[in-house]
Amino acid sequence: MTIPVACVIGWPVAHSRSPIIHRFWLQELGLSGDYVRQPVAPEEIQAFLKNLAERGYVGGNVTVPHKEAAFAAATEVDAAGQAVGAVNTLWIDGGQLIASNTDSLGFLANLDEKIGPVDGSGRPASVLGAGGAARATVWALLSRGFEPIHVVNRTIDRAEVLATRFGKSVRPASWSDLPRLLRETKLLVNTTSLGMVGQPELVVDLAPLPEDAIVTDLVYVPIETGLLRAARARRLVAVDGLGMLLHQAAPGFERWFGKRPTVTPELRAAVLATIEAQ
Ligand code: ATR
Repeated sequence: MTIPVACVIGWPVAHSRSPIIHRFWLQELGLSGDYVRQPVAPEEIQAFLKNLAERGYVGGNVTVPHKEAAFAAATEVDAAGQAVGAVNTLWIDGGQLIASNTDSLGFLANLDEKIGPVDGSGRPASVLGAGGAARATVWALLSRGFEPIHVVNRTIDRAEVLATRFGKSVRPASWSDLPRLLRETKLLVNTTSLGMVGQPELVVDLAPLPEDAIVTDLVYVPIETGLLRAARARRLVAVDGLGMLLHQAAPGFERWFGKRPTVTPELRAAVLATIEAQ
């Protein structure tokens, strides 16, 4: 009897914590199955995805730099994936490759878990960055009614392309606009790689933010980024990005292994231990 095996596809992929999450759930739920790291070079990704089932996989996650390639390879893409133009979760149905983007869901579930149901109705948000992670974040924020959403990026052209994709509620901006925009920002999100271990620090003066602003960072290595430290120093609510990683994993697990897993403090502690050991 063969057991279902899923994988995380990336290049490189050695750093991925997804196997820890899925193996934790498999064990917790007493299910047979496995989840492995699968390095695939960019020039091989299309051929690899075409034969995912033949390679013995029931599906998998897709990480950097393959999320757009997986979007292009899939026969069917869910609404979130269509909106974002990139996918992170794959499964096979009737021999077809089906894809979803669960990053937006993970982003919202993390905030909901930490601060209660997030209602952005008529509240301005600012998103730092304009890459794939920013697209998933903007789509999530639009779904909860945040308005307007300022997309602040070093390369203004990318912010403009992103804004065009999502419509008039999304407004491109430069870093030099940030002090002014922060005065009305109720939710500030960092989607850039700044502040991540090995990357330059993200330096933003949070002084202009209103007292009830929430600050969240998609970076979770380190768990307490400079941005979150600065937010806490100002007594603002600060939410780290680890919960997004945990929550985005749940829908894929359910597809591949048949049971809906839950994000628990025990799972968080298990993954956090690997971050703190780094
Ligand atoms: P992802 O798909 O994970 O979002 P990405 O498309 O590489 O990754 O986007 C990375 C984001 O971090 C971009 O917004 C990038 O800004 P540019 O579009 O100007 O490149 C931002 N970023 C990375 N390094 C940066 C730096 N040193 N200063 C400012 N922004 C930076």
